[in-house]
Amino acid sequence: MIDFEKRCAEYVSVINGAADRCVSASAFEGRESEGLAVMLKAMDYSLGNGGKRIRPMLTLEFCRVCGGDFKKAVPFALGAEMIHTYSLIHDDLPCMDNDDMRRGKPSSHKAFGEANALLAGDSLLTLAFETVLSAEGVDTDKKARAGFELAKAAGCSGMIAGQVMDLANEGKAAPLENIRATDRLKTGEMIRVSALLGCIAAGADDEKIKAAERYCENIGLAFQIVDDVLDVTSDSETLGKPVGSDMENGKSTYVSLLGLEESIRFARELTEKAKEAVGIFGSEGEFLAELADRLLNRKS
Ligand code: IPE
Ligand code: IPE
Ligand code: MG
Ligand code: MG
Ligand code: MG
Repeated sequence: MIDFEKRCAEYVSVINGAADRCVSASAFEGRESEGLAVMLKAMDYSLGNGGKRIRPMLTLEFCRVCGGDFKKAVPFALGAEMIHTYSLIHDDLPCMDNDDMRRGKPSSHKAFGEANALLAGDSLLTLAFETVLSAEGVDTDKKARAGFELAKAAGCSGMIAGQVMDLANEGKAAPLENIRATDRLKTGEMIRVSALLGCIAAGADDEKIKAAERYCENIGLAFQIVDDVLDVTSDSETLGKPVGSDMENGKSTYVSLLGLEESIRFARELTEKAKEAVGIFGSEGEFLAELADRLLNRKS
């Protein structure tokens, strides 16, 4: 039996340590300026502040199950978390979801103003690539492939496309297929690529990469469905972000279209499929199976 909590704690601590170092003044020695100081403060405010660290955890664990040294994959993991964090800063802006709270604190634009929040997001997006491409002790071809895959997943045919569709759906009863396509892009792509970066770091073969993609396709959709369920059933103190945001913005979600019960049933079904997908790793896949269950049953 694996000690799930212990491995999670180890991953979170490694990621948080690396995040702190990456947005500290010493990481930018010789590049100091007043503008940099403002951005470091704003980046650290969002990146250093909690978050479940699901995406970087996927990078590290997929690296491990594919036979790699997870410590070498830390810059890849952090790159994914930086892009995720930037997407949250921009997602909360008044022109997007207009949410004032994130990770248990005022959103970036509430703390630093809209322009600085926008720029802190930009800074994290670009720093993500600096981080991935300067990973120490990792082959240049792996770094190049990781950077390329991350750019594709985060960009205008990936997460951004999903955010555009999400906004376009506002105020409409969008069909379920449209919601599925939106969720696959806005949430699924960053989850998929996070795992893929771990596979790349480990030099995984196609069979393992396919299993990782199948796992993520299922937990990715389940993750957004649970997010939409919690937006209706939770409270802002537990979640660390506002509740009722989807309804207020007239979003179509699985919950608004199928109702709570059916949405939860579907998320459960997806979770079972995800667990099957990591069966090829045998007992080494236990952590990922447990993670899928925990994400289904999470409260925040
Ligand atoms: C929130 O992601 C945005 C979605 C894609 C639903 P998380 O629930 O992973 O947020 P943090 O990183 O833990 O704050
Ligand atoms: C966010 O989806 C997806 C992103 C790419 C950030 P949501 O808008 O539902 O995420 P929350 O609920 O604000 O975290
Ligand atoms: Mg949104
Ligand atoms: Mg939002
Ligand atoms: Mg949400």
